[in-house]
Amino acid sequence: MMATNLAPGVHWVGAIDWNLREYHGYTLPGTTYNAYLVRGEKTALIDSAYAGFENQILGRVASVCDPGEIDYIVLNHIEMDHSGCLPTLVRKMPGIPIYCTERAKTGLARHYDTSGWNIRVVKTGDTLDLGGKTLTFLEAPMLHWPDSMFTYLAEDAILFPNDAFGQHIASAARFDDQLGKNEALAHAQKFFANLIIPLAPKVLKKLDEVGKLGIAIEMIAPSHGIIWRSYAGDILKAYIDWSQGVAKDKVTIVYDTMHGSTTMMAQAIAEGVMAEGADVRVCLLRDGRY
Ligand SMILES: [Fe+2]
Ligand SMILES: [Fe+2]
Repeated sequence: MMATNLAPGVHWVGAIDWNLREYHGYTLPGTTYNAYLVRGEKTALIDSAYAGFENQILGRVASVCDPGEIDYIVLNHIEMDHSGCLPTLVRKMPGIPIYCTERAKTGLARHYDTSGWNIRVVKTGDTLDLGGKTLTFLEAPMLHWPDSMFTYLAEDAILFPNDAFGQHIASAARFDDQLGKNEALAHAQKFFANLIIPLAPKVLKKLDEVGKLGIAIEMIAPSHGIIWRSYAGDILKAYIDWSQGVAKDKVTIVYDTMHGSTTMMAQAIAEGVMAEGADVRVCLLRDGRY
């Protein structure tokens, strides 16, 4: 099992779940649970996966270094798809420091028996110096859970925003330019529509806050799907547009009919929409032709 390099000393060591078909209430072609290894003089593992994926994560770590060399775990979000390996990891590495928010600490204790875990609570602006690599933490409550946070790696200008900017897709591609920009954005849009949209005002506020920090963002490495390296600016702009409700000129006509009369009306409306140069989709509410 192999890791994928993002930058010198920064590696994707996540798990691919080819079989997941339903999550967050929508149909999926699988997904990935992305974890990252950041190596300075010390080594940090950022996030993990559901329980059962430990061998994928540790197998990929082993292609870079002995897993026993992991000094710290950073947990950006406690939901089980990112924290599920923790009991195994802590059993293998007793006393390993786990960096997370205060709310994550409380939440972890509800999910797992955390007695004896070495949990270190961090706030926005706190840093973890790995020696040549510096992680800075940024709380992101309700993006998309109360405990969520982003981690920023200054030396390589990489943002690890956990679920934000993610996409549910299982593929051999690790980067946006390998999957293709349009497909990557389409999966990100589906993810946004199903998870993030009720929190759109918070997205705008957080992006504004990140913008005011004046930090460079060369790469966005979320916890699901591909890593944004060629189109990081595009996904940031897309999140702003989607949060502001910027929409295409597109009309969806949803209808039902008994004898086909409403079909005639729906088609007439669709013709009118097309004549104005807008996109249109006509959806009959049941199977069949009327
Ligand atoms: Fe989540
Ligand atoms: Fe997730």
